[in-house]
Amino acid sequence: MFQRERRVVLTQEQIKERVRELGEEITRDYQGQELLVVGILKGAFIFMADLVREIRIPVAIDFMDVSSYGLSTESTGVVRILKDLEESIEGRHVLVVEDIIDSGLTLNYISENLKSRDAASVKICAFLDKPSRRKAPIKADYLGFSVPDEFIVGYGLDYAEKYRHYPYVAILERDEYESK
Ligand code: IMP
Ligand code: MG
Repeated sequence: MFQRERRVVLTQEQIKERVRELGEEITRDYQGQELLVVGILKGAFIFMADLVREIRIPVAIDFMDVSSYGLSTESTGVVRILKDLEESIEGRHVLVVEDIIDSGLTLNYISENLKSRDAASVKICAFLDKPSRRKAPIKADYLGFSVPDEFIVGYGLDYAEKYRHYPYVAILERDEYESK
């Protein structure tokens, strides 16, 4: 069903276990509070769906969509809000859920933007992190896994809108995208 040019780096079982741990950590940290979980479209949709089912405090859900990459594999640094939150976040505890932090430019913009709306708190939960690529001073409060500087697909992450549905995480071999 899935093809050979992709090297699996995180299995379904590894992901499930880590997501369960993150849910427990978040549940503990926000005990007695309510949480607004904000997913960044589209990459975070699978991680977020699994994560919120492991959180045992009251949770509301919203989404934002921003443009960063287009169809290329390099960040442009230009961030534009394509879809904003539906509700006010004033006085609320916000947890931003993102698929991967690469340069950090996207999340840097989003978290500054959300903080300026007077949220009670704004924290970040990222499924993956490529720390070696950072250009903006962003750190995840909750992190699934660190990954090397390779192009990653699956579990929500795409290349040109493909591979998001893979239940595991794989490295896309260079010739798969450089030849296109
Ligand atoms: P940043 O602004 O450079 O941190 O870019 C973050 C966004 O770039 C992520 O939300 C992803 O959509 C995309 N991205 C960065 N690295 C990868 C990757 O290895 N695979 C797929 N998408 C990626
Ligand atoms: Mg994204």
